[in-house]
Amino acid sequence: MERTAVRDLLNREAPLDAVRACGWVRTRRDAKGLSFLEVNDGSCLRNLQVILEGPLAAEPLLRRLTTGSAVAVEGALVASPAAGQRWELRARRLELLGEADPETYPLQKKRHSDEFLRGIAHLRPRTNKYGALFRIRSEAAFAVHRFFRERGFVHLHSPILTGSDCEGAGELFRVTTLREPPPAGGGGENPFAADFFGREAHLTVSGQLEAELFACALGRVYTFGPTFRAENSNTPRHAAEFWMIEPEMAFADLEEDMALAEALVKELVRHLRAHCAEDLELFARWVDPELPARLDLLVERPYERIPYAEAVRILQASGERFEYPVREGGDLQTEHERYLCERHVGRPVFVTDYPKEIKAFYMRVNDDGRTVAAMDLLVPRVGELVGGSQREERLEVLERRMEEAGLPRDRYWWYLDIRRFGTVPHAGFGLGFERFLMLATGVANIRDVIPFPRTPHNLEF
Ligand code: 4AD
Ligand code: MG
Repeated sequence: MERTAVRDLLNREAPLDAVRACGWVRTRRDAKGLSFLEVNDGSCLRNLQVILEGPLAAEPLLRRLTTGSAVAVEGALVASPAAGQRWELRARRLELLGEADPETYPLQKKRHSDEFLRGIAHLRPRTNKYGALFRIRSEAAFAVHRFFRERGFVHLHSPILTGSDCEGAGELFRVTTLREPPPAGGGGENPFAADFFGREAHLTVSGQLEAELFACALGRVYTFGPTFRAENSNTPRHAAEFWMIEPEMAFADLEEDMALAEALVKELVRHLRAHCAEDLELFARWVDPELPARLDLLVERPYERIPYAEAVRILQASGERFEYPVREGGDLQTEHERYLCERHVGRPVFVTDYPKEIKAFYMRVNDDGRTVAAMDLLVPRVGELVGGSQREERLEVLERRMEEAGLPRDRYWWYLDIRRFGTVPHAGFGLGFERFLMLATGVANIRDVIPFPRTPHNLEF
């Protein structure tokens, strides 16, 4: 008999005489000559209640139907007399597919801490919370592609192995096949001649540079893939491997860039509300009671815009005691970003026009010669969600910036070529997919929105 997902069974309008469902037993409750199984197959948050009677509710089978065991059940889907559920499955046949020893199965029927569940990341998707989380993650990824497709963007698969450093921040993971690789950046004659690529290679920190090349041919493109950063910051907002969404638009300026970022965040939230209502409800109930209000805030009103210089003045006049003092010309810390967004504005805010010294070489220099056409989108709880800019399209200005940043021109000849042949204004941004998921669910630690998180000294699974 064909197998039906629990979600499809529970959403049915009419009973069904013969169905087959499979899943993992969450709980079992025994009564006189009867037994009730709660079975979950991951297709939705809700469990299917299975009623066992007669020989199916007898030993020795019954004792083996423990929490975590896997079953296939055939029977009739009938209206449930119990409150809170519409349907239940009256079993005629039950097959025990795989047992789970109750002495050692780590997921017992109680609330486990996130920390504990991180240690069993192979089993945590079987819990209500993580099942819901990873269904939401999947749905959000779909919504990203839908958003761009509806706006005529071409999806670009940018490379993961790379020889350039987009952000110039030096937080690169090296890739080598040599047993004894030369030191990073090694000078003199090519010390990497014997290495696989014949030159220094690493995992990409961003697909932006390649996205720019393609935007200057296809007009509007986006990448959505894994990026890697070896920053040794053990914070709840940084992972060594995370996914970034990076659109890039030819003929666009910073205004258009911000409008796109705002539209994307709003659309993703609306999509999740429309398609993951039940799973989101779990987070509002158990993780963050303010979640519904925050999601309202994200979709309802226009986001604020504040130039960096003004942001610094606001922070300095705030009377707030920050751990890191606010310094004109310095980078904003998460505590500053959160103050601006949560306390000062009370909703998402774009901070624009940062001093060029604290931003990457590719950002377009403003007419004042001191600032760049950059924007960071700050959101409640998370801080920086998006970083983007208009790109420097003027060859001489870009070359000067690269020199100041100490970047070898010959390594980026292709990037410079785009400014030589039909250069155009263009702009783009990067949105951290995990940071968005934290925002959308209220989950406070980035490790808990990644299936198998990679952080310093953590590479299990
Ligand atoms: O601000 P970032 O470094 O910008 C770039 O990489 C640009 N090349 C993007 C572009 O213009 N195409 O990173 C973009 C976003 C951040 O705002 C943040 O949300 C996320 O990526 N991010 C991280 N997320 C998790 N862990 C980390 N270590 C992250 N570093 C950045
Ligand atoms: Mg940034």
